[in-house]
Amino acid sequence: MKYAAARGTKDILPEEASLWQFVEETGREVFELYNYKEIRTPIFESTDLFTRSIGSTTDIVKKEMYTFPDRKGRSLTLRPEETAPVVRAGLENNLISPDQLIKLYYLGPMFRYERPQAGRQRQFHQAGIEAFGSADPMLDAEVIQLSVKLFEKIGLKDLEVDINSVGDKKCQPLYREAIQKYFKENIKHMCDDCKERFELNPLRILDCKEAPCQKYIEKAPAAIDYLCAECKMHFEQVVRWLDGLEIRYRINDRLVRGLDYYTRTAFEVVSKQLGAQNAVCGGGRYDDLVEELGGKPTPAIGFAIGLERVIEIVKQLQITNYELRIVDLFIATIGDRAREFGFKLLADARNKGISSDMDYLGKSLKAQMKSADRLGAKHVYIIGDEELKKRLAVLKNMKTAEQKEVAFDKLEEELKHA
Ligand code: HAM
Repeated sequence: MKYAAARGTKDILPEEASLWQFVEETGREVFELYNYKEIRTPIFESTDLFTRSIGSTTDIVKKEMYTFPDRKGRSLTLRPEETAPVVRAGLENNLISPDQLIKLYYLGPMFRYERPQAGRQRQFHQAGIEAFGSADPMLDAEVIQLSVKLFEKIGLKDLEVDINSVGDKKCQPLYREAIQKYFKENIKHMCDDCKERFELNPLRILDCKEAPCQKYIEKAPAAIDYLCAECKMHFEQVVRWLDGLEIRYRINDRLVRGLDYYTRTAFEVVSKQLGAQNAVCGGGRYDDLVEELGGKPTPAIGFAIGLERVIEIVKQLQITNYELRIVDLFIATIGDRAREFGFKLLADARNKGISSDMDYLGKSLKAQMKSADRLGAKHVYIIGDEELKKRLAVLKNMKTAEQKEVAFDKLEEELKHA
């Protein structure tokens, strides 16, 4: 084989497309149920947008971005995530203003140069939401509820919601200091990544998965204990509203996110069905980002779901509560005249909204039946010279093998009731 898909990328083949469409459509349906409107932004943006928002010391910015100069030497980056582009687009198009609630959703590919493994690709897909304009903890609860609702609708089980509060501009520095102070003693016993994080981004140490580091991480101070009075109250209310909505959650004081823009609520939905890459959804508040990117101070919250991981669970659980997109009708013909008639009937069926097909390879009737079977066609309509005379033909239900004579002009009606 001459060419193969680039490392960390995957083709989504027709046999999987129905499953993808089901997940994406369920996403749209639930997002719209909560009054989110779709936004589509370009696949690449100015590199600076991501460096400033995600944070220059994060793994994403330091080592995972697909960054390249365009022909005029401008630095561009394939979007590693969609929050920053949505803020950029919202500000550029005057959608975001501090006193107005605006709810946006998106679906699409993201790009991160990571080490590919199960559940981690270099091109992957996210479905996400961003809500701007409100700092109300009720909105935090609504956003988390939305993600739970979406997963429920898809049919996923055994998911856990982890939440934490990472504080704000006021209390975050105190916590960072406490973390640095705590790890100072032991950092020499920890992995190289942790050592680097200790210097650049100490909170990220809490996210280390290396076994020898765990005993130090376990006893580290918790962000919740360093919250200022406002952040503490905000978190208590988020939890209260989650209880009110009967959402089950776990307060996980080790939860830190891989992007620097978060303030107050941070959350993840994790699955027991997946291996090391078990987060199916990640998000939280980012009340300072709009201002940092040039807008007026505007609180905001959102999340993104990793679609590949959701699809993986749907496959593992063998969820089949969605319809496979298969052709309703295959028109099989015998002889030239029947074929010409069949060709017209095919156009007619499609005009009536019946998904249909026929043979274009001059195959025998037997081979045509095989093709219909391979396509998974629900029905085959078999037309020969005799049938042309009588203006009716046999309609075979491919699932039950039941056969029935149906007049040409009754075909649509018959299929509707089939
Ligand atoms: P994130 O946690 O980096 O957050 O990504 C969200 C989700 O995308 C993850 O939980 C995971 O399911 C999926 N994901 C991330 N990287 C990969 C990968 N390499 N391969 C497969 N799936 C992946 C964000 O991107 C934030 N923008 C979420 C957000 C929106 N926060 C506020 N608003």
